[in-house]
Amino acid sequence: MAREYFIGLISGTSSDGVDAVLMEFVPTPKLRASHFLAYPDTLRAELLEFAAAHYRDDAIDQLGRLDRELGKLFAQAAHDLLKQTGLPGTAIRAIGSHGQTVRHRPGGSDPFTLQIADPNIIAARTGIATVADFRRRDLALGGEGAPLVPAFHRAALADRDETRAVVNIGGIANLTLLPARDGTVSGFDTGPGNLLMDLWSREHLQASHDESGAFAASGKVSTALLAELLSDGYFRRPPPKSTGRETFNRAWLQRGLARHPLPAADVMATLCELTARTVADAVIGCTPQVVRVLLCGGGTHNLTLVKRLGTLLPDCKLGTTAGCGVPPDWVEAAAFAWLARETLAGRPGNLPAVTGARAPTILGGIYPA
Ligand SMILES: Nc1ncnc2c1ncn2[C@@H]1O[C@H](COP(=O)(O)OP(=O)(O)O)[C@@H](O)[C@H]1O
Ligand SMILES: [Mg+2]
Repeated sequence: MAREYFIGLISGTSSDGVDAVLMEFVPTPKLRASHFLAYPDTLRAELLEFAAAHYRDDAIDQLGRLDRELGKLFAQAAHDLLKQTGLPGTAIRAIGSHGQTVRHRPGGSDPFTLQIADPNIIAARTGIATVADFRRRDLALGGEGAPLVPAFHRAALADRDETRAVVNIGGIANLTLLPARDGTVSGFDTGPGNLLMDLWSREHLQASHDESGAFAASGKVSTALLAELLSDGYFRRPPPKSTGRETFNRAWLQRGLARHPLPAADVMATLCELTARTVADAVIGCTPQVVRVLLCGGGTHNLTLVKRLGTLLPDCKLGTTAGCGVPPDWVEAAAFAWLARETLAGRPGNLPAVTGARAPTILGGIYPA
């Protein structure tokens, strides 16, 4: 059989840039190449401001412009990735593009989620069929539209004899429970991953993130601020649940800080602890009990966070997805390459037990080459 390659593209809540991967399914998922295309600083700043703004006069024009600009950048990421591998575009069955989330409001009477990076532009510029807009079909069936990575986690990272949890620490953190012996997969967003630490870094370190978690390590966790932040109802809500910047943002943090003013380093330490605690509590709350935790996402580079997770989860084997053949920085992009393949094959990509959708469904729209 001819080799089948798929490309996966994503930019997560961190809005840091495009993760691009080349995947081969033989039939187990194999990562063949990866590429990161950082957003220019001005674009990242505009996106963050756009995602934070609730009302804006020229929002529609701005949305159209960002949709196009991101479409070009995503196409560029796929192009750069291919150039690195030497493969022609014709070798690629499809691109799975998650796009960039600018709004995610799954609950309530008007559920809505929007990922931009125009797939028409990606398909036109690359000459490769592009699958995109993965989340809204799940929403249309009453689901959260997120997380969508668990089905891929099952395909790539599950083990017959060992119950595992995959914890992806992006801007938001999400957990996938992979029970041994093909038990029912579950998963949900645990809450903030890096996004609060990132915004605090921009304010106090003039840096996009707290490199290796060094600033967090220099501070002292405030039990009072931590308790205040942990009192948010999201953490106690049962799954299905997913979240984003709409809930966890600067204003949310400010409400806690107003009552507990602290040195900047202590705030960072507390935000790091918030992510560690909510992730660890989610793992501990799993049934069946988790034997091994596989970490992925940019948060795996925050050594303070990873160390705290090790302390809070003494009964789990803690490692990254690298041990299972998927490098931790590329798991999400790999998932969207895989989801594109499921869509082309006519197979559902969502897991109703995870998203709460009424039924499994084929995800996304196909934009032909
Ligand atoms: N060396 C590092 N030290 C600390 N944090 C890091 C490092 N590298 C990446 N990160 C964190 O990971 C984030 C990006 O993670 P990613 O998984 O791409 O998130 P998303 O899926 O939301 O885009 C960065 O914004 C930063 O917070
Ligand atoms: Mg990212």
